[in-house]
Amino acid sequence: MEHTGQHAKRDGFSSGFGVLAATLGSAVGLGNIWKFPYLTGANGGASFLLVYVIATLLVALPVMIAEIALGRKAKANPITALQTLAPGRLPWWLIGASGMLAAFLILSFYSEVVAWVFAYVAKSVAGSVLSSDRAVTEAAFGTLISDPVQSLVWQWVVLLSMGGILLLGVAKGIEALTKKLMPLLFLLLVLLCAVSLSLEKAADGLAFLFNPDFGKLTGGVVLTALGLAFFKLSIGMGTMMTYGSYFRDDQDIPATAMRVMSADLCVSLLAGIAIFPAVFTFGFEPAAGPALVFITIPAVFAQIPMGQALMVVFFVLTAIAATGATLSLMEVPVLIIQERFGLPRRKATGVTLGLLALTGSTCALTNSTLAGVTLFGMNLFDLFDFVSSNLLLPAGGIFIALFVGWVWGLDSFRQALSNEGRLRNDRLAYMVYFLLRFVSPLLILVVMLKGLNLI
Ligand code: PFF
Repeated sequence: MEHTGQHAKRDGFSSGFGVLAATLGSAVGLGNIWKFPYLTGANGGASFLLVYVIATLLVALPVMIAEIALGRKAKANPITALQTLAPGRLPWWLIGASGMLAAFLILSFYSEVVAWVFAYVAKSVAGSVLSSDRAVTEAAFGTLISDPVQSLVWQWVVLLSMGGILLLGVAKGIEALTKKLMPLLFLLLVLLCAVSLSLEKAADGLAFLFNPDFGKLTGGVVLTALGLAFFKLSIGMGTMMTYGSYFRDDQDIPATAMRVMSADLCVSLLAGIAIFPAVFTFGFEPAAGPALVFITIPAVFAQIPMGQALMVVFFVLTAIAATGATLSLMEVPVLIIQERFGLPRRKATGVTLGLLALTGSTCALTNSTLAGVTLFGMNLFDLFDFVSSNLLLPAGGIFIALFVGWVWGLDSFRQALSNEGRLRNDRLAYMVYFLLRFVSPLLILVVMLKGLNLI
């Protein structure tokens, strides 16, 4: 997935399976293993999960299909794509600009969580975190995040590795690696689920995850679930538009989107089933926040023979999954800078990394040097997450849906989804179009206003 410059022939995914793997690589990441469990734990369990699934089907999936279709049609970065498709008066290209801002905000905290995963690979090798004792795993995580030097250095290691991958053009290698190793992560998660389900209080964990208590749903919780649906499928900020621009003309867009969505949901559910029985058995707090996975997973591995070796494998695979997602996030600013400012890919990558080292350091230092710094009642790590997932991505979703539903129009949309008439999916196209024109924008707007206490 390299592209060498403005005037070079645009590169594209070479096979149908490559497209699926890369798109899946962007969707599956820390969102499944880290964010989904911790948000589900903090927002009441099953009722949150249910809203998240509904938001995915009714809103996120149609927007994902729309983004890919727009990207493939325009074959350009999101800003140029929207300018080309909407040469009229309204500044639709701002969706691309807001996407670039979202990419920086997300990467700032995401790269720090990848940093924790890298650090946990090292810690698992050293054997210092494997324990079913809550005090031990909590202390290990606490020591890591409250140490400014470790937090920063691991983040730089992450940024440099990602930059190296982008520069060396080994993204293709990463794709190939992801293709081979994702099934292994899947298997390891299944194994973890089996272990977790055999724990004493497994039933409590499952009840938490699957028995909804609607009393726990507030406007804020619903907005968080919607934001997670956007974050999970990498939409609302131009990432899928960018990937769409590499799609081949004969790729079945709705089928690809549906496969990615289903596989992604499966991975999240497996992570949930692996974690919540352990949370209840070992007396962790479901609402522990971003720490949840890092303190719970070692407790599950402590239950199995060869747990230490398997835990190393688990964090290595998680790091690889996170790499696919991180690269797709970086692709948005890199491609925009490259194509809009005519910079070579190397410089565009350098600029992006330099800026990220700055903005990211605020998230790396949130639990140490900048511990007291809050804005709107949130530390910077949470604030960046809130602004991107709960504001920018859903707002981007509204405008992408409105753009397709009211500007691009049914005919162009149908043509795009059917590959200019070669696929027979008219009914599906009508349905998705209806959702995009009326349902998704309204639903997102109401959820946002309610979640922000504006209505
Ligand atoms: N979908 C990724 C995950 O769940 O880990 C995160 C992500 C990647 C969000 C790319 C947004 C994006 F554009």
